[in-house]
Amino acid sequence: MLLQLSLLHFTILLLSTTSSSGSIAKPGCPERCGTLSIPYPFGVGSGCSMERSFDINCNASYDPPKPFLSILNAEIIGINPTNIRINFPNLALSSYGQNGSIFSVIYRLSSTRYMFSDQNWLTAIGCDDMAAVTGQANRSFSGGCVSYCQSADDSGGVASCPDDTNGFGLGTGCCRTPIPKGTTNLFVNLTDVHRNWRANKLFSTSYAFVGEKVTSNFSYRLNDLNNATIFFSDNWAAKNTPPVLLDWKMGSENCDKSTRNPTTYVCQGNTDCVDFDTNIEGYLCNCSKGYEGNPYLDPGCQDVDECADSPCDPNAVCTNLPGSFNCSCRKGYSGDGMKDGTGCTRLPPSTIINVAIGLGVGLGFILVLAICFYLYKVMQKRKKRIDKEKFFEHLLLQHQTNEGTLERTKLFPAKELEKATDNFNVSRILGQGGQGTVYKGMLSDGMIVAIKKLKLVDEDQLEQLINEVVILSQINHRHVVKLLGCCLATEVPLLVYEFVSNGTLFELIHNPNADISLSWNMRLKIASDIAGALAYLHSASSVPIYHRDIKSSNILLDEKYVVKVSDFGTSKVVAVDQTHLTTMVKGTFGYLDPEYFQTSQFTDKSDVYSFGVVLVELLTGRRPISTDTTEGDRNLASRFLASMEAGDLDTVLDARVSEEGGREAVITIARLAQRCLNHKGKMRPTMREVATELESIRMSQMPSTARNEAEETSVYEVKPMLISDIDYTWASGKSEISSPSDTRPFIPDDIV
Ligand SMILES: *[C@@H]1O[C@H](CO)[C@@H](O)[C@H](O)[C@H]1NC(C)=O
Ligand SMILES: *[C@@H]1O[C@H](CO)[C@@H](O)[C@H](O)[C@H]1NC(C)=O
Ligand SMILES: *[C@@H]1O[C@H](CO)[C@@H](O)[C@H](O)[C@H]1NC(C)=O
Ligand SMILES: *[C@@H]1O[C@H](CO)[C@@H](O)[C@H](O)[C@H]1NC(C)=O
Ligand SMILES: *[C@@H]1O[C@H](CO)[C@@H](O)[C@H](O)[C@H]1NC(C)=O
Ligand SMILES: *[C@@H]1O[C@H](CO)[C@@H](O)[C@H](O)[C@H]1NC(C)=O
Ligand SMILES: *[C@@H]1O[C@H](CO)[C@@H](O)[C@H](O)[C@H]1NC(C)=O
Ligand SMILES: *[C@@H]1O[C@H](CO)[C@@H](O)[C@H](O)[C@H]1NC(C)=O
Ligand SMILES: *[C@@H]1O[C@H](CO)[C@@H](O)[C@H](O)[C@H]1NC(C)=O
Ligand SMILES: *[C@@H]1O[C@H](CO)[C@@H](O)[C@H](O)[C@H]1NC(C)=O
Repeated sequence: MLLQLSLLHFTILLLSTTSSSGSIAKPGCPERCGTLSIPYPFGVGSGCSMERSFDINCNASYDPPKPFLSILNAEIIGINPTNIRINFPNLALSSYGQNGSIFSVIYRLSSTRYMFSDQNWLTAIGCDDMAAVTGQANRSFSGGCVSYCQSADDSGGVASCPDDTNGFGLGTGCCRTPIPKGTTNLFVNLTDVHRNWRANKLFSTSYAFVGEKVTSNFSYRLNDLNNATIFFSDNWAAKNTPPVLLDWKMGSENCDKSTRNPTTYVCQGNTDCVDFDTNIEGYLCNCSKGYEGNPYLDPGCQDVDECADSPCDPNAVCTNLPGSFNCSCRKGYSGDGMKDGTGCTRLPPSTIINVAIGLGVGLGFILVLAICFYLYKVMQKRKKRIDKEKFFEHLLLQHQTNEGTLERTKLFPAKELEKATDNFNVSRILGQGGQGTVYKGMLSDGMIVAIKKLKLVDEDQLEQLINEVVILSQINHRHVVKLLGCCLATEVPLLVYEFVSNGTLFELIHNPNADISLSWNMRLKIASDIAGALAYLHSASSVPIYHRDIKSSNILLDEKYVVKVSDFGTSKVVAVDQTHLTTMVKGTFGYLDPEYFQTSQFTDKSDVYSFGVVLVELLTGRRPISTDTTEGDRNLASRFLASMEAGDLDTVLDARVSEEGGREAVITIARLAQRCLNHKGKMRPTMREVATELESIRMSQMPSTARNEAEETSVYEVKPMLISDIDYTWASGKSEISSPSDTRPFIPDDIV
C-alpha cells in the first residue's frame, strides 16, 4: 500500500513536472514513447539514458508506439520512482502431458539495475503440480507450492487462487509463493507430481508464471485445463499473465558510502539520497522537500513555487521560500495563515496591541495634560504677578488721584533694580535688618538709591505691604526718607528709597572718632526736625502712621546734617476707628515704651516715648543702654529721669550742651524729654505738641537772620492734605486691619 501511495505521488509529480517545467528527459531526447513518459535515467535512443539498463527501445511499428526495455526485450508499461512494470510472458511455464515432466525457467537480473519486486509472486495452475523457486536476493532463498485438486469437479469445477499476499490462502487448482525483495536471479521449476497420489493426471495442462500480486486474481474452469487451445493461445497468456514489477536502483552501495564518491554519485542538486533498502545495497535519488523535478537530471530539483497553488488563507500573504513557503496573516489577523491550518482569524479589538496603543495614547494624553497643567500654573503665576503689579498700580493711582498732588510712586522694572545693585551683590549691602537687606544702587539715570529687599513671603503680608507703601509713598516730607518707588515683579518686593549719604544720628552722637561734635544748635535743629517729621506722620498724613521703631540709628543724616527719619519697616497704618492695636511687642530695647511693653498696646504715645529717648541721647550724648557697668542704672531713660528728680541734671548732660545751650533752654528741653518719658502714655505730650515746643525753643535761640531762613523751611510742610480731626489711635501688628470697607484699599478678588 505504501508503495502504491508513493507510486501515485510519483505519477502526480511526473505529471506536474511535465506540465510545469517540462524537462524530464535529457535535452534533445524524447520524453515519451507512445503514451508512456520516459524520465531520465531512462531514455530512448543513444546517449539518452544513464546506462544500458535504462535503454528503451521505442517500437514505432505499433500504434501507438510501444516502449521496450532493451535488456529484457520486455514491453514496459510503467516507469515509477522505484520500479518499472513490464509485460513479461516469457516468465510463464506451461506443460501439457501425462508423464510428470519438469519444466524450468531461469532469469538472471544480476547484471542489470533491476531486481524482482516483492510485489510479485509465483503462481502455479493445475491439479497435480508443484512450483519450486530458488533465487538470490541479499542471500539465497528457496520456496515453492503445490496446486492440487481432489477431484475433477472439486469446488464445482472452478479453480480459485489464494488471495493472501503471501500466497498461503486456500486455493483449488492454484497455488502461490512469494518472491523476496531484491531478488536478482530466479530459478523456477514446474513439476508434475500426480504420481504421488494418483495414477493418472486429472487434467493434462500445468501452468506457472511470475507476476504482480494485485492483478493476479483470476479464476478459471478446471475443465479448461484439458483444452490446450485455451492455455496455449497467445490470447490467454496475454490476457491472464500479469505484468511483472521490477525494482530499480542506483549504485551498489547505500547512501552513506555512495555520497562519498562524487564521481559515481548520480543525485543532482536539491536532492536527498534514499537507501534502496536497509539490507540491500543501492540507493535512489529524491527531490528534497519543497523541490520538484528530475533528481537524476542536471541541474537537479527546482524550488516549488507553492504560492502558485494558493496554500494560504485569503487573509494571508504567501511568500515562496527556497524549499518552502510562508503564510503570514495580514495586520489585524492571527493564525498560521495556512488554508489547511488555523488560517487567519480577525483579532478582536481589545487585543494586547490595541491595549498597548491605547496605553501609549493614554500616556501621551496624560503627558500633554501634565504639560498643559504646568504651563497653566506658570501662566497663573505670571498672571498673579501681573495682577499684583496692576493691583498695586491701581492702588497707587487711586490714592494718588484722591490725594491729587504727590509725585507718582514709580514702579521700577525688576531688571533695572538688578542692574542697579549689580545683581544684589553682597558688596553693595548697606545694612541688614529683620525686614530685609538694604543695598546701595545706582539707577540708569545716575541717581544713587537705597534698595530694600524685603523678606516677605505670603500674600497677607504682601497686601499689607502694598497698603503701607501706598501710604508711605504719599509722604513727601523733607525729614522723612523718601520712598521713590518699588518693584513687585520680583519674588520678594523691592523698595527704592532715596539714598542718604552721611550715616545715622547714632553714629554722629556716639562715635568717639567723629570729626565733628554736635553743636547745641545742631542738636536742637535735629530734635526739632525729627519731632516735626513724627508729628506729621502721626497727624498730618492722610492716615496715621506709627513709626514704632524710633531710635537714633534710624535717623539718617545727609551731607548737610539734615535728618531723615527712616526705616518704616515695622511701621503700621492704623484704622480710623481703632484706638490701638494689640501686637507682639516690637521695637528696640532702650527706646521701648514701658507701657507698651506691659500692655502690648501700641499708641501714638509709644512713639513719643521713643522720641524722648532720642532727645535725651542728644542732651546727654550717652547711649540708651549704657555699656559702662560702673554706672548705677544702665538704662539711659531711667537714669535721666532719676537725675531730673534729684535735680542734678548736670551730671548726665553732654559737656557741649552745658557749654553752649542756655541754661533755661536746656532745662526746658530736659523737662520736655521728661514729659515724653512719662510712664503713663496719657501724660505724655503729643508729637505735635513736642514739635511745636521744640520749634519755639529753637526760634528763641536763633538770631533773627537765621530765624527767617528757618521760617522758610518749617518743621513740617503744610500740604493740601486732609488732616483728620478724628482722634486717631494707633494700632499695629500682624493681625489684619479691620477697617471699614470704605477706608480699605481696593483689592481684587483674585489676589486674596
Ligand atoms: C518492432 O516490432 C515488430 C513486431 O513485433 C518487429 O518485427 C520489429 O522488429 C520491431 N522493431 C524493433 C526496432 O524492435
Ligand atoms: C513422457 O516422458 C518421457 C520421458 O520421461 C518422454 O520421452 C515422453 O515424450 C513423454 N511423453 C509425452 C506424451 O510427452
Ligand atoms: C529444477 O530441476 C533441476 C533438474 O532436476 C534441478 O537441478 C533444480 O535444482 C531444480 N530447481 C528447483 C528450484 O527446484
Ligand atoms: C536480507 O533481507 C531481508 C529483508 O529484506 C532481511 O530480513 C534479512 O535479514 C537480510 N539478510 C541478510 C543476510 O542480509
Ligand atoms: C480475487 O478473486 C476472489 C474470487 O473471485 C475474490 O473474492 C477476491 O475479492 C479477488 N481479489 C481481488 C484483489 O480482486
Ligand atoms: C477447447 O476450447 C476451444 C475454445 O474455447 C473450443 O473451441 C474447443 O471445442 C475446446 N475443445 C474441447 C475438447 O473441449
Ligand atoms: C521522496 O520524497 C517524497 C516526499 O518528498 C516522499 O513522499 C517519497 O516517499 C520519497 N521517495 C523515496 C523513494 O524515498
Ligand atoms: C514567516 O514570515 C514571518 C514574517 O516574515 C516570520 O516571522 C515567520 O517566522 C515566518 N515563518 C516561517 C515558517 O518561515
Ligand atoms: C560683586 O562685586 C564684586 C566687586 O564689584 C565683584 O568682584 C564680584 O565679582 C561681584 N560678585 C558677583 C556675584 O557678581
Ligand atoms: C559726612 O559728610 C561729610 C561731607 O559732607 C564728610 O566729610 C563726612 O565724612 C561724612 N560722614 C560720614 C559718616 O559719612
